[in-house]
Amino acid sequence: MTTDRTTTPATGPDETRFALSCDGITKAFQGVRAVNGATFDVPEGLVTALIGPNGAGKTTVVNILSGSMTCDSGTEHIGGTDVTNWPSYRIARLGLMRTFQLSRELGGLTVLENLLVAAPDQAGESMVNVFFRPSAVRRQERENVARALDILETYGLFHLRDNRASDLSGGQKKLLEISRAVMASPKVLLLDEPMAGVNPALIERIGGYILDLKAAGVTVLMIEHNLSVVERICDHVIVLAEGQTLATGKLSDLRENEEVVQAYLGEVIDASTHG
Ligand SMILES: Nc1ncnc2c1ncn2[C@@H]1O[C@H](COP(=O)(O)OP(=O)(O)OP(=O)(O)O)[C@@H](O)[C@H]1O
Ligand SMILES: [Mg+2]
Repeated sequence: MTTDRTTTPATGPDETRFALSCDGITKAFQGVRAVNGATFDVPEGLVTALIGPNGAGKTTVVNILSGSMTCDSGTEHIGGTDVTNWPSYRIARLGLMRTFQLSRELGGLTVLENLLVAAPDQAGESMVNVFFRPSAVRRQERENVARALDILETYGLFHLRDNRASDLSGGQKKLLEISRAVMASPKVLLLDEPMAGVNPALIERIGGYILDLKAAGVTVLMIEHNLSVVERICDHVIVLAEGQTLATGKLSDLRENEEVVQAYLGEVIDASTHG
């Protein structure tokens, strides 16, 4: 079931503000529709889960929303701005950052350097600034280093700052992905399975970090398979199945939705009950 809409409002009927909206997004690979009309709104300032079976098109939707990939049809709005098929650097300038399902650290660089390259609008990227405003460039570099160290401290990576990113464990790479995105001061953060493959203690910690980001005013959309995590930290849930928005709402309501249970929740509940 997709919602039939001709316009994409920046606010809902109850005046909920939407940080991000997509309407009728489609994407085919070699003729196969991976995303088939996905339509949903992401409420501002909340944590929203994007859930659904393997292959439902969740990562493809995030790729499209973040500008890593273009869509074949449909529209995307950030706030009230139509950003359909904008490249990722322009979408990032509007404050939307994302992390990847498989960590994409720059392995040859140190942990600290990974954050420094993620800093937005670096004065030193302009040759004019380098030659004519060297002190301003140096000052910004010092500020970026201080900010990066601060973020690494927050995410428990400070002691690893001079290690090569490729030497980190899987869990530490997940933390580095989030730290890099945070370095760009996002307003909207898309997280693709930020807790996949990490131990229960780290799942707990990452959940806490996500709630801290929400408290700081960041809107979060996260792909997540672990329903106890969704229950604990997500305010709103979007269910994607076969590239379409099957339902949206609170997880407790979705558990009562027969269509959702059949398409996804039943399978997940079974898996958690039987080991
Ligand atoms: N670059 C690509 N080329 C070809 N097919 C692709 C590509 N990316 C995704 N697909 C296909 O599109 C469908 C949706 O994939 P996607 O990765 O978006 O699913 P997902 O919901 O994120 O799944 P998972 O929960 O396993 O991560 C799958 O059938 C996948 O094989
Ligand atoms: Mg995926």
